[in-house]
Amino acid sequence: MRFIICEDYEGMSKAAADILAAEVLLKPNCILGLATGSTPIGMYQEIAEKKLDLSHVTTFNLDEYYPIKSSNEESYHYFMQENFFSKVNVKKENIHMLDGEAEDPQQECDDYERLINKHGRIDLQVLGIGHNGHIGFNEPNSFFRAQTHISNLTQRTIEANSRFFERIEDMPTKSLTMGVGSIMNSKTIVLLASGKEKAAVIKELQKNKVDPQIPATILTVHRDVIVIVDKEAASLL
Ligand code: PGA
Repeated sequence: MRFIICEDYEGMSKAAADILAAEVLLKPNCILGLATGSTPIGMYQEIAEKKLDLSHVTTFNLDEYYPIKSSNEESYHYFMQENFFSKVNVKKENIHMLDGEAEDPQQECDDYERLINKHGRIDLQVLGIGHNGHIGFNEPNSFFRAQTHISNLTQRTIEANSRFFERIEDMPTKSLTMGVGSIMNSKTIVLLASGKEKAAVIKELQKNKVDPQIPATILTVHRDVIVIVDKEAASLL
């Protein structure tokens, strides 16, 4: 695990965008794993400004709330469209996201897992990190869930993410998420964190102790993880 400490949010976003751009330039038909949340927004902006040709790229998003309509402004479908896909030339047919409107969510998870495996390994997976150490919506647990699954959101995640919803009751309490196995199977992982409220969980990554109660700690045994943080998130390192 390598740590890159940047001056601020903008520096973190630029560093992440550069790594992603390099991947696309070296392998135009690469498979990218994409994340949502407030942290990667700057990275998406930077990538859009680079005017890269992403027409051969395939993308898989990590997760989606469940249930949620893709037209809901808080859905991750909406987020990705607004912050990234509307600004770049990834082909619609190459974009893969879990469906928050699926009638049979378990089937949706199984189909998504099969689809990822059919494409092979994700070349570069972008991750944010929750205060509780979640990656995707792999919440603290007594064991790691390898496959794409339905996840019950913890109270802490509901409280953290409800800031985007008008009322806390509007926030879905479940999600569909790629599992830890699919994330760990990625060739390279770039984890982003910004702000002092992430400092404690970033420090956990430095301890090299794998603990499913802090799901991101599994990344310490991956061969190629780059943690890009701003100074505040790095303040306890
Ligand atoms: P955030 O979310 O980027 O909005 O802090 C990160 C996450 O929960 O994975």
